[in-house]
Amino acid sequence: MTPGIRPLIAGNWKMHGTLREAVQLAEALRDGVEGVDLLVCPPFPHLHAVAVALLGGRVAVGAQDCHAAQRGAHTGDVSAAMLRDAGATHVILGHSERRTNHGENDAAVLAKTEAALAAGLLPIICVGETEAERLAGLAESVVEKQLSGSVPYGFVTAGGIIAYEPVWAIGTGRTPTESDIAAIHAAIRRILVARFGPAARTTRLLYGGSVKPANAAAILALPEVDGALVGGASLVAADFLAIAGAVPR
Ligand code: 13P
Repeated sequence: MTPGIRPLIAGNWKMHGTLREAVQLAEALRDGVEGVDLLVCPPFPHLHAVAVALLGGRVAVGAQDCHAAQRGAHTGDVSAAMLRDAGATHVILGHSERRTNHGENDAAVLAKTEAALAAGLLPIICVGETEAERLAGLAESVVEKQLSGSVPYGFVTAGGIIAYEPVWAIGTGRTPTESDIAAIHAAIRRILVARFGPAARTTRLLYGGSVKPANAAAILALPEVDGALVGGASLVAADFLAIAGAVPR
């Protein structure tokens, strides 16, 4: 953890669950965990019902993507303002599954992030290298390029969040070594501070990729790791709460 930063444990539910299951999961998480910010990011059709189920609780709601435009002829897309209206406070942008499955590049992520900020949503920008890039020793330079291409002016002062998610660790049960996670997080902090100044010392840097109750305490204890972005384990209330409970304090 970074001293002085309030930890955030975020759940990315991806394309899982019925509406009923989403509301049940939200109800099971509602009371949260003392001293930790919790966020869940359901699929679009479940977002409003989940936000209603969480009203008055300790868990915030986010979306998994948004369009860069405010409105218009964009069949199948959703604007940042619509997400706000439905109860979201955060939005995940540039997830590797969006980059891979929908061809999103850094410029697209930048435009979406600007739209999110303009609508009053807190963006969580995902960055991370593929396995080939890591093996070639390029992890840090890939992340640096993604940050410089996708993080807009105003991001840090608005409270924007970065998630480091190595692509090869997502859904695989594999994670980088603790020293590799710490090294990339330190690099992300350096890059942000160099560009945005001291305000970036309190930007929350999340780690994502196969975070489970069994490895959460070790990962969350690392310097500059201010929380986690959790996929699979966020679909099981007990596991997600156990990860939040593993935040050192
Ligand atoms: P897993 O926790 O299932 O590896 O997913 C991580 C992720 O992609 C969160 O955005």
